[in-house]
Amino acid sequence: MSKRIGLLTSGGDAPGMNAAIRAVVRQGIKEGAEIVGIMRGFEGLISGEFIPLDLSSVSGIIQRGGTILLTARCEEFKTPEGVEEAVKKVKKAKMDGLILIGGDGTFRGGMELEKRGIPTIGVPASIDDDLWGTDHTIGFDTAVNTALQALDKIRDTATSHERAFVVEVMGRTAGYLALMSGLAGGAEFIAIPEVPFKMEEVAQAIKRGFERKKRHFIIVLAEGVMGAYQLAQELYERTGHEIKVSILGHIQRGGNPSAYDRYLASRLGAAAVQAIISGRRGEMVGLKNEEIVLTPYSQAVSRRKEIDLKAYELSKILGL
Ligand code: F6P
Repeated sequence: MSKRIGLLTSGGDAPGMNAAIRAVVRQGIKEGAEIVGIMRGFEGLISGEFIPLDLSSVSGIIQRGGTILLTARCEEFKTPEGVEEAVKKVKKAKMDGLILIGGDGTFRGGMELEKRGIPTIGVPASIDDDLWGTDHTIGFDTAVNTALQALDKIRDTATSHERAFVVEVMGRTAGYLALMSGLAGGAEFIAIPEVPFKMEEVAQAIKRGFERKKRHFIIVLAEGVMGAYQLAQELYERTGHEIKVSILGHIQRGGNPSAYDRYLASRLGAAAVQAIISGRRGEMVGLKNEEIVLTPYSQAVSRRKEIDLKAYELSKILGL
């Protein structure tokens, strides 16, 4: 039976979303399905903003950051009325199911649609890398590399001026982005929400570092721990060293996706189509040890992916 499948991107954009869209469309067409693009995530589902997607509409996008379908954080979809309206639009457009590209908020939306009988499959895309059921989410690798480039540049100026810096990276309540970029960037200290730290110990490390003629002291701070200016102030009060602050912000969400993100997005986009066509629903596709796995949304959003404590401990030894 030929299927009509709706496709949307939702929540914060992530580099590689376009590569995932391309994979869904091209794998879908190969399977004899029709792929309907839904603009602006759940917003476009509620308003019925749909566009046909064919082979050529996804040509030349694999290398582009952002999402050609646009994205939004839709407050209306969090209300029962909003969900009902979306369900009506799905039925009116005769869609047999939906593929949702996004993070935990997107899959919570998918759970609401499932409750009302709309089959959906999720594709994990978020720079936060905080979902259970996949080794990595689409966009994480690119965001790590963007943060890493910034850290390398900050270290140049920090070293010239013999300064300490707090560099704040994104990640919402998770520390994966901070840990990976901090370890790769040779940070002297990494602050993540998963591992509590003592302010006085960091202050002493800064003092010791400069006493033994270290030329810089870079702290990578996950945004979920505390504000960068607050951390810098508290450390200044304890050390007397001026601490500069750099908040990387949304540059971590943009840019051309890395090779790994394009690869991951291609595998997961194609797998999502195969899953929905074979009758799977209410699950997220993931790549674990190079194998495609499906995880129920409820687990993907509620189980906390564990931080690699060995990597964290290593960062403390190497950052001495
Ligand atoms: O979830 C991705 C993310 O970039 C988080 O790391 C960050 O906290 C949040 O989105 C920012 O969201 P917004 O772009 O809506 O401000």
